[in-house]
Amino acid sequence: MSKVKIALIGAGLRGQNYVDYALAHPDEMEVVAVADPNLDRRDRLMQRHGVDERLGYDDWRELLAQPKLADAVLICTQDKMHFEPTMMALDAGYHVLLEKPMSPDPQECLEMGAKAQQSGLIFSICHVLRYTNFFRTVKRLLAEGQIGQLMSIQHNENVGYWHQAHSFVRGNWRNAEESSPMILAKSCHDMDILLWLAGDDCTRLSSFGSLSYFNASNAPEGAPKRCTDGCPVADECLYYAPNVYLGDSESWMAAAISDDPSPEARLKALQEGPYGRCVYHCDNNVVDHQVVNMEFANEVTAVFTMSAFTQECNRTLKLMGTKGEIRAAMEKNEIELIRFGSLAPEKISLELPGGHAGHGGGDYGLMSDFIGLVKSGGSGGDSLTSAAKSVQSHMMAFAAETSRLEKRVIELAAFSG
Ligand SMILES: NC(=O)c1ccc[n+]([C@@H]2O[C@H](COP(=O)([O-])OP(=O)(O)OC[C@H]3O[C@@H](n4cnc5c(N)ncnc54)[C@H](O)[C@@H]3O)[C@@H](O)[C@H]2O)c1
Repeated sequence: MSKVKIALIGAGLRGQNYVDYALAHPDEMEVVAVADPNLDRRDRLMQRHGVDERLGYDDWRELLAQPKLADAVLICTQDKMHFEPTMMALDAGYHVLLEKPMSPDPQECLEMGAKAQQSGLIFSICHVLRYTNFFRTVKRLLAEGQIGQLMSIQHNENVGYWHQAHSFVRGNWRNAEESSPMILAKSCHDMDILLWLAGDDCTRLSSFGSLSYFNASNAPEGAPKRCTDGCPVADECLYYAPNVYLGDSESWMAAAISDDPSPEARLKALQEGPYGRCVYHCDNNVVDHQVVNMEFANEVTAVFTMSAFTQECNRTLKLMGTKGEIRAAMEKNEIELIRFGSLAPEKISLELPGGHAGHGGGDYGLMSDFIGLVKSGGSGGDSLTSAAKSVQSHMMAFAAETSRLEKRVIELAAFSG
């Protein structure tokens, strides 16, 4: 196979991002068909990639009903629209790269995992963090025994107050019933990384957390439902929508509120759309802080903290072993290796991801691996994020949500059936 032919289902932010890999690597991959009901997005993407206009579809069903027109499909629709296209694509003989979370329903995750195994096709999940230089280096240090035997992990997902407000208060992932719980939508990556770093199955866990701040009880007096309706605290509010969205038209947050980047279109989006709403008067119900405590079969323990209440959006972690510690900050690309008894820590400087840096280089690392796997019929990639592995980390996220809601410790073996 010279070039891998890809059909894209869902030409939104993530889909656009992944398929641009074809522009950077035209010898490896080509986009040949696109399904998305949003005509602007679809047309723009088709033009950018030179896709034959007859191969643009309004709906994934229409695309998958055609005789097989590509080697693989990339499924980047919203969380609740992953299961059906995946099952149908596997039935039609396509290799599949599916955005996370696999599904907000644990049963559907298990079914997709089983289907992929039966089909013998490549089915990977976009757990992009495993492909970053940063996490690969941490994993290598552990495998080399640099800190002896791993005992404990402390992992923080610092969401950032501004990111929480955009995505999890006003935006697409604000309501668990409409998309998925926070631990799945935002933190299934972290469950996945913890599973990978711990190096064994997760046996049990417990979780606590709540939505304590972004709710009506914290609304400033007189704050209207929409920022543009004369808010009395516009000057001091961190979340005043015109300040957040009408500045830099190139930002990904501005792109999310309107496909048209003009100031008029963005103002209209704030006056009429979800991103102009007061953050204390939204229909959000996902948590703004949560912890998960985990124990793995090899007796490694881990504690994970997700919090909206941070300045930066990043991940920081500490791994504690019998002979030393690793302290690491992902977005800074900094890793410190401390060997017990030695005077100074060793600082490991990582090369910054060149070219496209989405998710610390993980987005293109994942694409490169997936394309390699498809090209070689399964042997030419690391396959770090196969569905079989991802099902397990998704189950950890579902179990954590159950623990939080039911206030009990969950045994994973019984939970996953
Ligand atoms: N891997 C990551 O780190 C990461 C990061 C952010 C989001 N995500 C996940 O990626 C997925 C997509 O997120 P996004 O931000 O790109 O969302 P988005 O809303 O920008 O894109 C989804 C696209 O699907 C299209 N769509 C709707 N119905 C369709 C249909 N019937 N057929 C074909 N297309 C249809 C929409 O028009 C839209 O363009 C979500 O599941 C999200 O949770 C993953």
